[in-house]
Amino acid sequence: MTVNLSSRARNTSPSATLAIAAIAKQMKAEGIDIVDFGLGEPDFETPAHVKDAAIAAIREGFTRYTAAAGIDELKEAIVTKLKRDNGLSYAPSEVIVSCGSKHSLFNIAEVLFEPGDEVIVPAPYWVTYTEQIRLVDARPVIVQTREEDGFHLTREALEPAITPKTKAILLNSPCNPTGAMIPLEQLPALAALAVERDLLVISDEAYESLTYDRHTHVSIASLGEEVKRRTLVVNTVSKAYAMTGWRIGYAAGPTDIIKAMGTIQSQVTSNPTSIAQKAAVAALLGPHDGLRDMVGEFDRRRRYLLSRLNTIPGITCTNPEGAFYFFPNFSSFYGAVANGSPIRNSAEMAAYLLQTARVVLVPGSEFGSDAHLRLSYATPMDSIRKGVERIERALDALRS
Ligand SMILES: Cc1ncc(COP(=O)(O)O)c(C=O)c1O
Repeated sequence: MTVNLSSRARNTSPSATLAIAAIAKQMKAEGIDIVDFGLGEPDFETPAHVKDAAIAAIREGFTRYTAAAGIDELKEAIVTKLKRDNGLSYAPSEVIVSCGSKHSLFNIAEVLFEPGDEVIVPAPYWVTYTEQIRLVDARPVIVQTREEDGFHLTREALEPAITPKTKAILLNSPCNPTGAMIPLEQLPALAALAVERDLLVISDEAYESLTYDRHTHVSIASLGEEVKRRTLVVNTVSKAYAMTGWRIGYAAGPTDIIKAMGTIQSQVTSNPTSIAQKAAVAALLGPHDGLRDMVGEFDRRRRYLLSRLNTIPGITCTNPEGAFYFFPNFSSFYGAVANGSPIRNSAEMAAYLLQTARVVLVPGSEFGSDAHLRLSYATPMDSIRKGVERIERALDALRS
């Protein structure tokens, strides 16, 4: 029997980062010595007290369905976190817990966007945004930020993209893949723009606690009641607490939107995993030493990479202010020929680096910028040193 997949299924691209991770895993399993700069998750352990909370939950039999939108205890913990870290006041009814913030974002797309609605997405962007927007038949409208400006988003860049069909603006600061943060002096201008043009703001704050060089994250929702009323703050325990596999994310915003998200979620997944919710409570309310150590180590790696990458002739690279990614520009090598094949774009550069240098980077085309490749430093320092040397050698070979 020939199955005709829906156009929705046919038109959705698989997650490129997960695809690259699978190739790297396969090569490693074959015994090939790979340096993996493709990872989108911290290479640290979930803190012990968080694991203990989940184990205790299992032992206590907390293993059944919970309320679809999350247990009260976790919603309260999220309310506490949003107040403590972001100066935001929400009631538990304005919070929903989902199976990762990717799930929260998709719920938001489901409840807000009609076919034809436009959603502004600054580029470079996390690839999931555009795919999710298309999945609900809305249209991502890309606003390019520029490497020369440190990939910083400004009101001036964003405003011309607004049309009568624009429903929302998607913000991601610190940004995956560039590590750029929205400049603090731009935040009020962006908030004012959303209010003036009656737009919703979706603020993905997944990397808020991973910031460097005295940069601090400020949630756009904290800039006043008017902008808060139209903002959905999306966050996750995945990155700050090294809990990617536990699948707990959340959103906070206006009650009617949160309630609608809960209704959809109740029909699609029901609750996020019961024991992971208990673990998330421990993560949000427990000691944060693990996070501090992790940020310190990421910063050490970041500074090392910054000094190395910018001395490789032909590469340019901005200084990431947050997250754990570099987004170096390899385009000066496009046009070179390796093993008889031309390297014309970021996908071919990634393939060359994988085959020749045994180094995994993710092509920038997946993030809306073909000149760049994403390099994650969520990998130990020894590997980072080895990987940079390999990249240097592979690029030297292209010049000779
Ligand atoms: C910018 C951004 N937002 C959200 C997520 C999703 O994280 P999770 O679904 O694990 O909460 C990721 C994961 O890579 C991300 O990079």
